This record gives sequence, C-alpha cells and structure tokens, in this order.
Amino acid sequence: MSKGIYHHRRFSAKQTNKLREIAGRSKRTFNFLDQREFEFLRSVVLDPATEYPEIGAVSKYWGFGPEHAPAKDIVPWLMPKLERLLGPHEVDFFAYQEAITPWKIHADIRWHESRIPYRVLLIPLDVEPNDGTVSYDSWPETNTVVFEQRNFLAHYPESSDDLIIPNTGQDHWLRSCDDPNVEALIPGRQIPEQDWNALFGHIPYEEAEGMTIDRINPWIPMSIMQWDNTALHAADDFLGHRIRTKRCFMIFTFLPE
Ligand SMILES: [Fe+2]
Repeated sequence: MSKGIYHHRRFSAKQTNKLREIAGRSKRTFNFLDQREFEFLRSVVLDPATEYPEIGAVSKYWGFGPEHAPAKDIVPWLMPKLERLLGPHEVDFFAYQEAITPWKIHADIRWHESRIPYRVLLIPLDVEPNDGTVSYDSWPETNTVVFEQRNFLAHYPESSDDLIIPNTGQDHWLRSCDDPNVEALIPGRQIPEQDWNALFGHIPYEEAEGMTIDRINPWIPMSIMQWDNTALHAADDFLGHRIRTKRCFMIFTFLPE
C-alpha cells in the first residue's frame, strides 16, 4: 500500500491492456545491496530522529520523490542497480515504512490519468522482536506474501469523485473474493487452513476463499523483493510471532512513457 489518496475510478482501456500485458510473478534477489548501502538505509530508518509525515492506522510512512532532498543520498547508487534489475522504468516515489499492524490482503494499484504503474519493490531493513532491536544476522522470520490474484481497478467507474485513503484502518475492507475488482480467483479455499493460520493469524480463514500464493518472500538482509502494482499481497502476522515492528524501504515505479 502506498502514500496518499486513491481515486475510485478505472484506467483507460489502453492502460488496462498494458497493465495486463506486463503482469508478471513476484521475484526476490539476494545481495541486491552491499553492506554499506544496506547500513545507510538502515541507519535512516533506525534513527530515533527520523520523523514519519504520515502516521496511519497500519504503518508509519515517509514517502518522497526521487527529486526531493531525502533522495539525494540514495539516487546516485540505487538508480543504476534498479535499472539493471528491472530494465527501463521510472521511479514514482520512495518510502520508508515502519509497521504498526500487518497489512491485510491488498494491491498497491493507484489510478493515474496517463501513467502505467509498474513494479513495487521492498528492501527489508529491520525486524524488531518484542524484547528489543537485534542485529540483522538474527532477525526472527517474517514474510511478505504475494498472491496470484490481481486488481486492475477494472470494475470502478470510468470517472468518479470518490476517494479512498488507504492507511486509515482495514476493518471495512472487503474479502478479496467479494471485491469485484479482484481477478483470477480460483473457487474454493486452496491454501490449507493450517498453512493459512501459520502465516495469517490476523486474517480469518474465510478470506482464503479463491486465493492462491504466488510467492512467500522472507525478509532477508540486503535482499530486495518485487511484485506488480496490480498483485494482491499481505504481510504475515508478525505481531503474533513476537515481532514488535518491521521496517523497510520501498520503491514504486512506472513504465517509461
Ligand atoms: Fe502494499
């Protein structure tokens, strides 16, 4: 989920076709960062002086564009790496995020009048157990789970003034299988209840209806994971696994025009 306000409307047919055409699987890459790069981002997110402009119900969030001041120490070394990893793309914005409660199942997709939202990338920076910060070689296990189901916003109206503000609580969210925007559901509960509960203690098993897993991405220091803007995903139940919070750096991208 990303910063700001989401418009309750669908993309043009041309944008939607492109979004469908570029849809791919979640991936992860080990040792994407070297230790110095990783420790730089980690030092920002662990600095008690770091302030999050957006403190929502689910996470603390600090988003900024590649042209903004906080990006100036990141862009020179990160952009070439992203180019090698993703190929042609443009950065929409970066974000540092500190979790409060685990995100339930959602897609990050946000309407834009002309652009094509592309991949979302997540660099894990810290996993803090209930009893205090640990060094990064002893993080407790936690995962970001990407599903095979998609949201192209295709059932929203062509135009609407309705807005959605995403980081304000998840209680009113529909089950994915009840959301007309969600596609590629497989009828039935394909993920066994025991497996579901081991990952998602914060999400009732009824919400497993129609859902299948693309990839379980463990949080590993110096790695990066990625998924499509349209791909449904969720955090695992870190609070239920004695983890107080987790912190990451995220990159939201567009296809080049
Ligand atoms: Fe998300």
